[in-house]
Amino acid sequence: MQSATILNLITKGVQRGDAAWADFGSGEGRFTRALRALLGPDADIYTVDVDASTLERQRRTFGTHADVSRTHFVEADFTQPLDLPPLDGVLLANALHFIKDQTTMLKQLRAYLKPSGRLLVIEYDITRGSVWVPYPLPFRTLARLAPAAGFQQPVLLATTPSRFRSQIYSALVLHTSYVNDGIEKWAPLGDSLADRGGDR
Ligand SMILES: C[S@@+](CC[C@H](N)C(=O)[O-])C[C@H]1O[C@@H](n2cnc3c(N)ncnc32)[C@H](O)[C@@H]1O
Repeated sequence: MQSATILNLITKGVQRGDAAWADFGSGEGRFTRALRALLGPDADIYTVDVDASTLERQRRTFGTHADVSRTHFVEADFTQPLDLPPLDGVLLANALHFIKDQTTMLKQLRAYLKPSGRLLVIEYDITRGSVWVPYPLPFRTLARLAPAAGFQQPVLLATTPSRFRSQIYSALVLHTSYVNDGIEKWAPLGDSLADRGGDR
């Protein structure tokens, strides 16, 4: 995925001035770098992955691409409790589909957020699982699970075609205590994927 596509997927969910974000299941850090570009050098970013070698490669890349001083590399399983400060946002790109009990995971994620905090979810809009995407999370399912986990209805931010399967969507999931006075900014784009068919 090109960096312009990645930026387009997440731009609307990130606000300049946000002080702290985490990228859970950050992999090679392609979304983490886009986050850094949007947040600027003063924000803290916690980049979390269970795979030490991936995280090490990411650390080396960051040495050349971004200000590393406020990038915190956390080798950890994000299903386990993490010691993080209250966050403005948590990004999960292609990571929630590894989690079987996504409602419990969403509840855990909510606990990391400030009341004004938000989740930014990037997933394949597919319903059938595979070895690569064991527990798919199409937008339609996210729209059902998020309120059950104490969030508002997700807002569809952007979609992009996927070379492998269907399309990829990005969605913003706001904390229930967040008063969305920027409704224009975070209004759904076009037709909601939630209105489409699917078996999950
Ligand atoms: C498909 S990659 C996505 C990487 C990156 N977010 C992206 O979209 O380019 C999934 C990443 O999530 C990590 N991961 C999966 N389950 C995890 C868990 N429970 N805790 C931490 N990292 C996890 C994997 O190690 C892998 O690097």
